Amino acid sequence: MHNLPALNRTLALWRSHRDTIALVPTMGALHAGHISLVKLAGRRADRVVVSIFLNPTQFAPHEDFTNYPRILRRDISQLTAVKTDLVWSPSVETMYRSGFATRVVPEGPAMVGLEDAFRPHFFSGVATVVAKLFIQCRPDIAVFGEKDYQQLKVVTQLARDLDLNTRVVSAPTIRERDGLALSSRNAYLSTQERTAAPVLYRVLSDCARSIAAGGPINRVLEDGRAAIAGAGFALDYLEARHADTLAPISARREGPIRLLVAARLGKTRLIDNVAV
Ligand code: PAJ
Repeated sequence: MHNLPALNRTLALWRSHRDTIALVPTMGALHAGHISLVKLAGRRADRVVVSIFLNPTQFAPHEDFTNYPRILRRDISQLTAVKTDLVWSPSVETMYRSGFATRVVPEGPAMVGLEDAFRPHFFSGVATVVAKLFIQCRPDIAVFGEKDYQQLKVVTQLARDLDLNTRVVSAPTIRERDGLALSSRNAYLSTQERTAAPVLYRVLSDCARSIAAGGPINRVLEDGRAAIAGAGFALDYLEARHADTLAPISARREGPIRLLVAARLGKTRLIDNVAV
């Protein structure tokens, strides 16, 4: 479905039946991680809306918006295997009408020096489009992956701060057998890069285990950073943060702790995170 009047008609019909509605926002190029979110949505609500919108405003000019895989037909055919009541795929012109001039600029978890330090306009792009999707669909719940942990915190805060009446539900990260977190961007990896990529999760898991066993956080992370660089990555960050606030943490008793990493392999930037 591509236009707002048709979306509104369908949603109004469902609401007249008192059906509950779940929204799963995506940018398409769907993989098993996305599908797990859709399945979770289907268990939690009567109706499932999957949005597929490659959002230009969350990409910086040098980023991969132009190359990002656009495979809407294949995405829709993947969704036929799981309960999806509606695919909401507006055009850029429908989402950002000519003269569009409003932005949601999130603070709090959006300004803690992780993704925001490397992609300064990313979270205002995400928050603006997610606010619009929530207002367009007015879902009872919206499902987001832990894979994008800082984004999960940002949209949870957004829904609360703007009284959007949508509960944000989180879903665990789906991984390849070797541990690499599924991502639409994994398709960019060369064979050699794909072989190195699982190091990210292996290092995260090792660090989490060492910290849980009482290892000093700073030293454990220093070793982890060296292991990631040694595998050929250019590291953006590997950090221990408070799992709720994302504030920096230096001792285990300040937790619960989440370890978060971002690193580049060639031209591809990968992110991942684990609980301690
Ligand atoms: P996208 O990268 O397409 O991701 C859509 C949703 O799928 C996000 O909630 C993301 O965390 C989740 N996801 C991605 N990989 C996953 C994995 N391996 N396991 C579990 N969940 C996974 O995130 C975005 O799109 C956009 O920023 C969006 C929120 C749609 C706003 O444009």
